[in-house]
Amino acid sequence: MPSVTLPSTDRRATASLFSRLRTPKGQADPFPIYAELQGRGAVSPAPWGGFLVTGFRACDQILRNNNWLEPDTRWRERQGGSTRWSAPSSREISRTLPALNRPEHTRVRRSAGSFDRTTIELIGRRVSRIVDGLLDIVDERVRAGEADFAALVSEELPVATIGDWLGLPSADWSRLRELTHDQVFTQELHPTASQLARSDTAMAELRAYFLGLVRERRLRPGEDPVSRWIRNWDALEPDRDKADEAVYFLALFVLLAALETTSTLLSTMTLRLVEEPGRWSLLAERPDLVPAFVEETLRHDPPTHVISRIAAQDCLLDGYEVRADDMVHLMVGAAHRDPDRFSDPDVFDPRRAPTHLAFSGGIHYCLGAPLARLEAQTLLSRTVARLPRLTLVRRPSHAPRIAFRRLLNLDVAPA
Ligand code: HEM
Repeated sequence: MPSVTLPSTDRRATASLFSRLRTPKGQADPFPIYAELQGRGAVSPAPWGGFLVTGFRACDQILRNNNWLEPDTRWRERQGGSTRWSAPSSREISRTLPALNRPEHTRVRRSAGSFDRTTIELIGRRVSRIVDGLLDIVDERVRAGEADFAALVSEELPVATIGDWLGLPSADWSRLRELTHDQVFTQELHPTASQLARSDTAMAELRAYFLGLVRERRLRPGEDPVSRWIRNWDALEPDRDKADEAVYFLALFVLLAALETTSTLLSTMTLRLVEEPGRWSLLAERPDLVPAFVEETLRHDPPTHVISRIAAQDCLLDGYEVRADDMVHLMVGAAHRDPDRFSDPDVFDPRRAPTHLAFSGGIHYCLGAPLARLEAQTLLSRTVARLPRLTLVRRPSHAPRIAFRRLLNLDVAPA
């Protein structure tokens, strides 16, 4: 059990683990490093201040407890003008739904609505058509040699799904996807100045795009979600500019939230499928295991490895003294391999059907989880049913990130 005072040696030791996480080897397989972190206890001091939480139970409790808040606009202002938190992209993201605290969060979340069963059924038909079109291309490519599944499918399906749902012109999809890749750095653990500058530029273009979209939908309202959000916000907010701004933040964040995370899930899931021949046979015989396979992918290597919170007041966390405003990083990727929670945590077991924190927990539980699951389950079942049995040609490489995983390629060929 750690003592309540904070030995600086603890922070230095964790710093050396983190520098290993940043190497290509650490990016490709961070789990041995997470295991070392976990060996120091469920909580350890972060090298830069604040804490890293690697125990599943501790992460779960923090997500569900009101004493832990999002780093909102006011918290970012308190960090000072020379920090990363004052970057324009950071200020912009702090006004989107996942960065809001109560009571504002409740108001905005209610205005967003949810993916109920009827909506999911409607979107499901469209997703099946998109998946079949994309798999036709993969089929043709692999019959001629090999194909990059990440580029052909994982990058395309989420943008086509959300783009279609929001009613965005397909000509814009590829640019929006690029901007999403650039803005993510402002949400990363420790962005460099040049990465932050890329996020700032991307965010400015996204702002102009989505404010333009809101204006256009005001002129020509329809039955799409953006028009619905305008109606909701006109009823909530008498100031038209403020209402437009609120709708802009909703549309912006839904796009950002829906793209990279889902692409990573689709690629990681397909990687698990093709790297081990028995898994394809299992799903071919037992298609009912498809949902469990998706959940096990989300546990074994979730798209988001880190979720951050700040302490609302001074408290003790696993014996450590935490001050109000200190940040804790919930290392969800590590928590999902916590041996106190999962037996044989490193083993990918498609029959496990685990509960996990990939979609967070508590009041910020992912709004788009039903949509992400729909895309993943449709893709997995159609892949096994339709494509020739595939194998991995080479190990994929990962983007240099810690919090937001991204596979840069997934090269497959007929087995
Ligand atoms: C595999 C895919 C996805 C993963 C892993 C994922 C993960 C997450 C996580 C971890 C959070 C909470 C962050 C926090 O607690 O601070 C979150 C929130 C959110 N996600 Fe997702 N997401 C995915 C797909 C989607 C999709 C497809 C959409 C939209 C259609 C979406 C919309 C949202 C929204 C709006 C929030 C904010 C909820 C709130 O703060 O109340 N996500 N997501």
